[in-house]
Amino acid sequence: MTSSLINKPQFPGAWLQPQKPAYGTFPYPFKGLGSEQDDSASSLSALKVALRLGYRHIDTAFTYSNQHQIGTACKELGIEREELFVTSKLHPYNNSYREAWKKIREANLLIWGKDASPGDNYLDSFLIHYPGFGDLIGTWGAFQEAKIKGLVRHIGVSNYEPWHLEKMKAKTGDYPEVNQIEFHPWIYDEQVQVLDFCQSRGIALEGYSPLAQGKRIKDPFIDKLAFKYQTTPSRILIRWCMQHKVLPIVGSRNPIHISSNAEPYTFKLSTQEIETIDGLGASDPVRIAEQWQWNSKKAPFGGPIPHPSSFQRVRTFISKTVKNVFF
Ligand SMILES: NC(=O)c1ccc[n+]([C@@H]2O[C@H](COP(=O)([O-])OP(=O)(O)OC[C@H]3O[C@@H](n4cnc5c(N)ncnc54)[C@H](OP(=O)(O)O)[C@@H]3O)[C@@H](O)[C@H]2O)c1
Repeated sequence: MTSSLINKPQFPGAWLQPQKPAYGTFPYPFKGLGSEQDDSASSLSALKVALRLGYRHIDTAFTYSNQHQIGTACKELGIEREELFVTSKLHPYNNSYREAWKKIREANLLIWGKDASPGDNYLDSFLIHYPGFGDLIGTWGAFQEAKIKGLVRHIGVSNYEPWHLEKMKAKTGDYPEVNQIEFHPWIYDEQVQVLDFCQSRGIALEGYSPLAQGKRIKDPFIDKLAFKYQTTPSRILIRWCMQHKVLPIVGSRNPIHISSNAEPYTFKLSTQEIETIDGLGASDPVRIAEQWQWNSKKAPFGGPIPHPSSFQRVRTFISKTVKNVFF
């Protein structure tokens, strides 16, 4: 890693392109940096490298315990609030009107701090992390109100399949603005239905784990394309995601990778190449996320996630079975 890379923004604002809405009301910041799972010094350092390189969409969540690092990094680097697009996600344990409101305020406080000016105190995007149990109608109501009050600019979901989205529409009258799903070639066969459903209804799509966490990075066809376009296998996968009009959320702690993933995508995959990549997972798929956590067909009580409070478990069970609010 050269020091000039760390010290100087090389593509300032590059990741805010294009700004015009690609789908419905979602502004579609071009590319996101994933920031998963911990609040370590290496996570903060990767975030700062990315911000210096011009990444402006940062993906976080309550489950990652690192929301506060975004404000810290921005203060250190002098990045203004309006330059940044922050996505955060509500933990399924907090699926209720009251809890959702509490967590929206808490996320803003964690990220921007108690001294932030009221105009800076908002999330660009807040998502229900995955379908689960609890009062999801109440949760969505809180999301809608927070949007009206300006505490969240765009509201959405993550890991929702078409049947979840249909149920959501039936129960709330609303589709989300955005759906963040696992998206890479080795899950394409499964996700193509979500892709078609969302894109035909103006729901923006974000793709997490676009590199399948490196599990198939040595795929011979991807390698062949990387050679053809004189680039890396990761950039071929990111390009494939972009050409499907899915916003890639790429995770990396490595400054060289963060930089390489961020370079301009001057090459374009042909339709035939896209179709071949689409088929790579047909016989040997990969799924990173544990679907059983939220697929109620497999987990009839809304997912076997252990809950710390038995009271909340009972409340959840009642709200799900009596009110039938699961979506
Ligand atoms: N909504 C959800 O339920 C959900 C679930 C999972 C993830 N996410 C979000 O999506 C983000 C990304 O997903 P992910 O981290 O699971 O998977 P990913 O982006 O597919 O893969 C990350 C892995 O790829 C490596 N990598 C990155 N760039 C590379 C390059 N140019 N060359 C070689 N290896 C490279 C990284 O290692 P290095 O650190 O060495 O670069 C890391 O091990 C997460 O950080 C999180 O924000 C959301």
